[in-house]
Amino acid sequence: MSKEINGFSKLSKEEKINWIVDNFFTDTVMAKSVLKQYWNEDNKLQKLHDEFSENTLSNFYLPFSIAPNFLINGKKYSIPMVIEESSVIAAASKSAKLWSDLGGFKAKVISKIKTGQVHFTYTGDKQAISSYFNYIKPTLIQDTESITTNMKKRGGGIIDISLIDKTFDMKGYYQISVSFDTIDAMGANFINSCLEQISKSFKDKTDIFKDYIIKSNDIKIIMNILSNYVPDCLVKAEVSCKVEKLNKKEDFNGYCEKFVQAVKIAELDTYRAVTHNKGIMNGIDAIAVATGNDFRAIEAGIHAYASKDGKYRGLTHAKIENGVFFFSIEIPLALGTIGGITNLHPLVKLALNMLNDPNAEELMEITAAVGLAQNYGALRSLITSGIQRGHMKMHLINILNSLEATESEKQSAVEYFKDEIVNNNNVQRYITKLRKSNEI
Ligand code: MEV
Repeated sequence: MSKEINGFSKLSKEEKINWIVDNFFTDTVMAKSVLKQYWNEDNKLQKLHDEFSENTLSNFYLPFSIAPNFLINGKKYSIPMVIEESSVIAAASKSAKLWSDLGGFKAKVISKIKTGQVHFTYTGDKQAISSYFNYIKPTLIQDTESITTNMKKRGGGIIDISLIDKTFDMKGYYQISVSFDTIDAMGANFINSCLEQISKSFKDKTDIFKDYIIKSNDIKIIMNILSNYVPDCLVKAEVSCKVEKLNKKEDFNGYCEKFVQAVKIAELDTYRAVTHNKGIMNGIDAIAVATGNDFRAIEAGIHAYASKDGKYRGLTHAKIENGVFFFSIEIPLALGTIGGITNLHPLVKLALNMLNDPNAEELMEITAAVGLAQNYGALRSLITSGIQRGHMKMHLINILNSLEATESEKQSAVEYFKDEIVNNNNVQRYITKLRKSNEI
């Protein structure tokens, strides 16, 4: 059998599955049944999911969970989160409860501007291209009218458009940089459509410019695309309370000081910063997935922001001032609450409903607060009991499932491991012993 194929996308779903199982599995019956057991029996719903992507064979489940008791800007939220890692939801929920008792999270959108770029080369006279750009700029904006009309009605659209000379970095390289406000949409399609129109007009309309001779063929468009680096689409979330109050809550004197040091270490050391930020992304990605947002774009933008001063740093900040503990996060978040799959995927719709159908700004604030809560939970564990204790307790069920433990074996194990160290060996040993004793 050949493992290469032409025209795979043209095959029916059943034919695709047959080709996969025939080529990659000896137990074809098992492989087929694993793929098919995740199909939804509601054909309409299944088709909807199939059509989100291409070459779809099945659905891939991830847990849809809730972290309750978030108090953000005075409002109570139960946060929908989609993540497979144990203990993330427990940590977020625990931090949420603690900070809701201490006054809650305050979050604020600082700015909401996104950028798109037309990348092109032109090796002619610099003054000529700059004059042409200034001359054609109103036309470039005007020519996007049919794309921007609805966005403008909602209060958004193109904010500005400028020419950037990058010839110092690469021969003949220029950018047309366009800034956008996409209101409640993440806006990728909107931005990219505008950019394609702008670059077309820029290249095609050189004839109408009489001051210098610019030939259309001298302008070579390389590409038109939005940037996922969104340092001007920024949100801040913070919590604060009296040091003595938090030290007491967390049950040890000096807790706040140690916490501040842990945050500082992530600001100073890249090895630590990456893990620190990964923990923040546990929360941010989980709410992004649940609300139908593009977590890859969010990840890319946030990590670039973490290295904005030339060194990769932790994204949160903590300090003690006049006896008050402050903990905050400032991150770029290009989120949408309309468009994309937000009103297609039933669970995404439900998740947004649960958050009271927020606009993009509210969702940015909620998401930043969740990231901060997640980081708080991770650091609290790290500077007190250590991460493994809580993490492995939550992971216990996964280990038990991998050992195919029965419900009653699980119950006994959960009871037993309340005061014991959870690791693969210990759990395996416990289950073997339990099974042996049950044989007698
Ligand atoms: C694990 O998914 C995340 C942590 O490693 C984050 C951190 O170390 O801050 C616990």
